[in-house]
Amino acid sequence: MPAATRQPINATTRFCAVLGHPVKHSASPAFQNAGLQALGLDWRYLAFDVHPDHLRDAIEGARRMKFIGLNLTVPHKLLAVKLVDVLDESARRWGAVNTIRFEARDAKRRWQPLRTFRDGEAPETIRTVGFNTDADAIVRSIREDLGLDVRGKRVLLLGAGGAGRVAALKLAEVGAGSLHLVNRTRGKATALRREIRRRFPKVCVAVGYPDGPVDLVLNATSLGLRAGDPLPFDPAQFALKNVRAVYDMIYRPAETPLLKRARQAGCRTANGLGMLLWQGVAALEIWTERNAPVEIMRRALRRNVYA
Ligand code: ATR
Repeated sequence: MPAATRQPINATTRFCAVLGHPVKHSASPAFQNAGLQALGLDWRYLAFDVHPDHLRDAIEGARRMKFIGLNLTVPHKLLAVKLVDVLDESARRWGAVNTIRFEARDAKRRWQPLRTFRDGEAPETIRTVGFNTDADAIVRSIREDLGLDVRGKRVLLLGAGGAGRVAALKLAEVGAGSLHLVNRTRGKATALRREIRRRFPKVCVAVGYPDGPVDLVLNATSLGLRAGDPLPFDPAQFALKNVRAVYDMIYRPAETPLLKRARQAGCRTANGLGMLLWQGVAALEIWTERNAPVEIMRRALRRNVYA
């Protein structure tokens, strides 16, 4: 698809944004703006550093300024569940919100996305609808970037925080054979094991390192983001030599110490770029109700992260 000529910002330009704390490393503006431009929309995608204490005010401000939608990143995804007016089924299922769509009622009193109203014509009563596009994105990226279908597979999941919980539940939903959960704070892994047993009783789930070979190691901790971070697993308790593939949700740096070690051990590896792409593609489709220009967004994302 040829990139449309970008119109300069003017008084009718519409806005989306990502809210995070911190947010300056986000690659979302780069690839979302490429997508918006390719769709020929006079919209812009911005990034704002919002402290969690001010998340409610920031969402309210975006609503009042008739933004089209928002993305939420660390640490807002759980908090936002309580702040939106309506939870889409995806947000209810995974207990986290990473995408908000603003909606208003049309002449027939049906709720419609704000993009369907011309600027200045949207009613003042606007509601917020929370979605989760992360969970599907994880599995899609693992399949696309590692060539791995997780059904029936043995998985070691590192991290049971917000991202780790959604990943574990989604892997259980799609039928991972066994899940081994490791987290610095063991209580969180134990609570997650309980939740998986309750919601997905067919999945074999344990806390601690597995014995024997593993199909997939998935890092959902923040270890690897900062230079000098230790590995997210204990090499005295677990070795990468019996692992087929390693996925790191971190995408900046593009190769974390974990991925480097995994590559050297002969594992297939992928970083979190694909997950970021697919959650963003789904968000753009929620806001625009059009097919997203995936390849243009993918190229823009790669340029931003690998440049
Ligand atoms: P996110 O929403 O990105 O998952 P989070 O909920 O704060 O953020 O989770 C961060 C994850 O990284 C957790 O698994 C956390 O372990 P704890 O639950 O024990 O906090 C893990 N993590 C962060 N810093 C760590 C460190 N220095 N060593 C080990 N694990 C760490």
